[in-house]
Amino acid sequence: MTRQWTPSSWRDKPICQVPSYPDPEALRAAEERIATWPPLVFAGEARALRTSLGEVCEGRAFLLQGGDCAESFSEHGADNIRDFFRVFLQMSIVLTCGASRPVVKVGRIAGQFAKPRSADFETRDGVSLPSYRGDIINGIEFDEVARVPDPERLRMAYRQSAATLNLLRAFAQGGYSNLENVHEWMLEFVAGSPQADRYQELADRISESMAFMSAIGINAKNNPQIRETSFYTSHEALLLGYEEALTRTDSTTGEWYATSGHMIWIGDRTRQRDHAHVEFCRGVHNPIGIKCGPSLEPDELLSLIDVLNPDNMPGRLTLIARFGHDRVEQFLPRLIRAVEREGRKVVWSCDPMHGNTITANGYKTRPFQRILAEVQRFFDVTKAEGVHPGGIHIEMTGKNVTECTGGARDISEDNLSDRYHTHCDPRLNAEQAVELAFLVAELLKNDRAGTATRIAVNG
Ligand code: PEP
Ligand code: CO
Repeated sequence: MTRQWTPSSWRDKPICQVPSYPDPEALRAAEERIATWPPLVFAGEARALRTSLGEVCEGRAFLLQGGDCAESFSEHGADNIRDFFRVFLQMSIVLTCGASRPVVKVGRIAGQFAKPRSADFETRDGVSLPSYRGDIINGIEFDEVARVPDPERLRMAYRQSAATLNLLRAFAQGGYSNLENVHEWMLEFVAGSPQADRYQELADRISESMAFMSAIGINAKNNPQIRETSFYTSHEALLLGYEEALTRTDSTTGEWYATSGHMIWIGDRTRQRDHAHVEFCRGVHNPIGIKCGPSLEPDELLSLIDVLNPDNMPGRLTLIARFGHDRVEQFLPRLIRAVEREGRKVVWSCDPMHGNTITANGYKTRPFQRILAEVQRFFDVTKAEGVHPGGIHIEMTGKNVTECTGGARDISEDNLSDRYHTHCDPRLNAEQAVELAFLVAELLKNDRAGTATRIAVNG
């Protein structure tokens, strides 16, 4: 029999990736304070996302999920958020046209602050300090004081998430996303980029369609679908004390929801069935993601699905495959077969970032060709196995950074030091993100047409 769930029942379970706070009382006080603050998102919104992901599950919509690997306190500005949002919209327009179906937009934003780490300590020049675990936990600076976990950071993360969400809501609903502005979104990077012509052509086509619709009486004034967009937030639910503090009951249904973001996911390092992170997620009704890496056995996945989605509700679970360009063909088919055999409803999404990280010139990087190759192979595998390629999950920024090599401007390993700003993993820059969207649009178009594409990938 399943044990009773409460927002704190995870505390009795084994747990990985926990920071050691020198003052647990201060941590408890911060959590208690946050528990009295307003929710960041509402249960009804999380439910709406679950419904949209249900559409993805049935192949009637496509999921675009992306944002920073780790948000940072120091880069919290309106420009940064706007640039991200603009590229995200650009990508979603490209994908909508390719897929001829709605794109469900989910940012890794407004809460993506806690990072799992492969090593507890970082050593530089013979000095070892606790690893940086994200701004909600400790500081990135390599000094002893900064690396001490500080409970005050939970409150800072909450406040930053609230401010970010506020701006995102305004962008999504306050007119910025109006499809009639499609030409304005391509300012700066994309306008001067190698993708400019393709994007311009697409924007022209959309403007033409808008003019036609306007002529028959459908316009932004009388149609919210043209004027507004739905944008959702997500993050890895890693720091469970923070998540618990923001877990609330929905007054209309009596169900529990994590109100720290619309969707939360369980990382590849914390998805043990009997452990704390799975326990926490099983009781909240938000859409849940599970990162699926090479160490995940099919049986283990099925038992995770049993725990997390016993009612087999479409849209509840998104399986985020992150195997690496050279391993996706080996590991993904057996997971898909197990899930299909048991008739489980899930969204299959591709994270082409986390299995393709290498080190070059002392920088963590990801070759763009390998990212493209993993996406291409993910599409091949889902097609061969007869399931819908539901979405992509990427690390990206709206800025012109140099963190992943390759792309149309062919960033080299020597260029990495030019603008390497990430607080954790290397992200696609604005141009690379749009370039990836064009590739995926092409794959979706062919998926729809039932033809095979081979994009030149040689990762
Ligand atoms: C991440 O998404 O930033 C991450 C750490 O992923 P994974 O759990 O798949 O390694
Ligand atoms: Co990452």
